[in-house]
Amino acid sequence: MKHALAFAAAGEMELNKLDQIRAAEAKLLLSTYDRNPILFVGGQGVYIIDENGERYLDLLSGIGVNALGYSHPVIEEAIARQSRALIHTSNLFYHQGQAELALRLTERTGLDRVFFSNTGTEAWEGALKLARAHSGLLRSEGHDIGTKFLALEQSFHGRTFGSMSTTYKEKYREPFGPVVPGVEFVRFNDVADLRAKFSTEVCAILVEAIQGEGGVRPLTQEFFAEARALSSSTGALLIVDEIQAGMGRTGKWCAYQHYGIQPDVTTLAKPLAGGIPLGALLCTEEAARAIHAGMHGTTFGGGPLACAVAIAVIDHIERENLLAHATEVGDYFQAQLRSLATRHSAIVDVRGRGLMIAAELDSADLAKLAVAEMLKRRILINCTSETVLRFLPPYILERVNVDTAIAALDEIFTEHAGALIAPHAASHTTTHTAGGPNHG
Ligand SMILES: Cc1ncc(COP(=O)(O)O)c(C=O)c1O
Repeated sequence: MKHALAFAAAGEMELNKLDQIRAAEAKLLLSTYDRNPILFVGGQGVYIIDENGERYLDLLSGIGVNALGYSHPVIEEAIARQSRALIHTSNLFYHQGQAELALRLTERTGLDRVFFSNTGTEAWEGALKLARAHSGLLRSEGHDIGTKFLALEQSFHGRTFGSMSTTYKEKYREPFGPVVPGVEFVRFNDVADLRAKFSTEVCAILVEAIQGEGGVRPLTQEFFAEARALSSSTGALLIVDEIQAGMGRTGKWCAYQHYGIQPDVTTLAKPLAGGIPLGALLCTEEAARAIHAGMHGTTFGGGPLACAVAIAVIDHIERENLLAHATEVGDYFQAQLRSLATRHSAIVDVRGRGLMIAAELDSADLAKLAVAEMLKRRILINCTSETVLRFLPPYILERVNVDTAIAALDEIFTEHAGALIAPHAASHTTTHTAGGPNHG
C-alpha cells in the first residue's frame, strides 16, 4: 500500500514501460535477479519480441523451458480448451489429465509411477523424500541401509532446502546454512571417489546424466554404470535429475537413455508443459512401495491446465518427430561450433547432446562479453560455470537459425578475442549476461 500510494502520488501508476517497471521492481521485489534491461511482450516461433517490436533469436528458451518456442498453436489451443473446461481441482478429486499424462510419461521413461509437482525443485524434493522413506521401509524389513545421499560436484538441483543441500556450489548453500545434513559430494566422473564414498549408509546416488548449470557436462558411461551397480548392490536408489536434459532436449525423452541405464527415480520439469509450470517425479514400483496416502502432496501440482498442455506438447513432439529434429539440428550446431573452434582458439571445447549444447571458452571475461555482444545482435544465450556458453534453444530450431548464431559468434570472436588475451584488458568491461551465470 505504502509504495502504491507513493507511485500514485508521483503520477506513475502506469507500469508498462521498461523504465517504470525497473524502478517499481527495484522497490517492490526481493533482489534475487540482476535482469537484463529488456522488456519482452510477445513471441513467435524461435523469436521473442520486445516492447519496441524488435525480434530476438532465442537460443535459451526461458532456460530450457519453451520447447515449442512462442505462440505455438498447439499450446494455445490446449490452454484455451482446458481453461474453458477446468483449471484447478486440487488433488482431493479426479480430473481427466493426470492418468493420461502419467501413461505417456511412464511409457517414455521406463518407470512405473508418477507424482506431479509444479517446479523442478519440488520434483527433486519429492525424490529426496522418497529415497529417505524407501530406505526406512527397507530398514523395517531388516535391510542394512542408511540415510545418506551421495551427490556430485558441480551438481545443480534447485533452490529449496533439500535441493539446495544436494547442490554443490557453495554460493547457493552458504548464506542459508545449516543445510540439510547427510549429503556427501563425489568428484564428477571419478569412479574411485564414488566407490570410496559409497557404503550401506547411502540411501541414494543423485546425478544429472548431463549436468546443466554445471556446464553441460555428460557423465561417462563408466561412472554412470558404476553408480547403477553400486546402488543396486544395497537397495539404494539411483536418482537421475532430468529437469534440464529430459523431455526430448537431447534427442531422447531422457538423457539416461543415451547410456542404456535405467534409474529407479527420475525428475522432469522445465519443458514438460511447454512453459506452463509443471514438474514430475517418476519411480519404480519398488520405490513407490514407500509412499502411501497422506505422506506427501501439493495443492497445485498436476492440475488440469498444466496436464492438458503437457499432453499436447508430448503428442506434438511425437507427431512432428521433434526428437529426431533436435538430434539433427543439434549435431549441425555442434559441427558448426567445432568448425568455429578451428578458427578461434578461445573456444576450448564443444560438447552436448541434441539441443543441449555448450561451447567452453578460455576466459570468463570473454564468455561474459560474448553473451552481451550476442544480446546486442538480438540473440539470447547464457553463460554458466563462468566460461561455458550454453545453448538451450526451442526444439523447433532450424539450421538457418544456427547459421545466424554462428555468424554472430564468428564476428564477436574476431573482434574481441585478441583484446581479451591480456587478463587486465577485460577487467573493466561491464556486461549483462542473459539469465546471469548462476540461474539454473
Ligand atoms: C538439473 C536441474 N535440476 C533442478 C532444477 C530446478 O528447477 P526449478 O528452477 O524449476 O525449480 C534445475 C533448474 O535449472 C535444473 O537445471
